[in-house]
Amino acid sequence: MKSLRQEIIPLLENYLPQTRIEHSIRVAETAHQMAVSGTNLYGQALDPKDAYKAGLLHDIAKALSPKKLCDLGIAQSPWYSSLHTQYPAVWHAFAAPRLIETLLGVQPPEILQAIRYHTTGAGHMGSLAKILYIADYIEPERPFHDRQILMNMVIKNRQSIEDIHLALAIIVSGSIIGLSRRQKAIHPLTLHCYNAISSKLTAPSLSRCKLHIANYY
Ligand SMILES: [Fe+2]
Repeated sequence: MKSLRQEIIPLLENYLPQTRIEHSIRVAETAHQMAVSGTNLYGQALDPKDAYKAGLLHDIAKALSPKKLCDLGIAQSPWYSSLHTQYPAVWHAFAAPRLIETLLGVQPPEILQAIRYHTTGAGHMGSLAKILYIADYIEPERPFHDRQILMNMVIKNRQSIEDIHLALAIIVSGSIIGLSRRQKAIHPLTLHCYNAISSKLTAPSLSRCKLHIANYY
């Protein structure tokens, strides 16, 4: 992964403070570990290097705004400005793909989809999008009480898709609970993600999800 770091970290230094770059490296390492430990699930459909790259780049627009992006010569439709007004914490994820392709040229659609949905989740998420969404929550410096439990759930020998979906369901449920407690707007894609993932879980996993939420959120 050294060559990816050498290519991407100097770019990140133009847009992010050091602490955010360090978070991005930890997300990249976690996403890479998840992709490697899930080889039996994804096979050749997922290159662990893409997971690493998505992790490095996922927050590249975190310190930007619609105006700053415009100043960089990256035009955006009015939709992006209204997204920034309505859901300021979500905007950076949707703004990032345009910035990334301006800086690095055309990228694999799986990487761009994973970055676009890393904050909200979505009803239709590919394997890489699921991995990045989870990795952003479980990277080793996150202070969440259930971080290690979720890490053990998704990084182990002979990974199962049920484990990935259970972790995703827990994180998205926790996100909805946290947002509603703080009376923040919940992006519709987060609700779509919750509905789609909870409909995929078996009854025992739904019970585990319910118990986990009761214990930790
Ligand atoms: Fe992040």
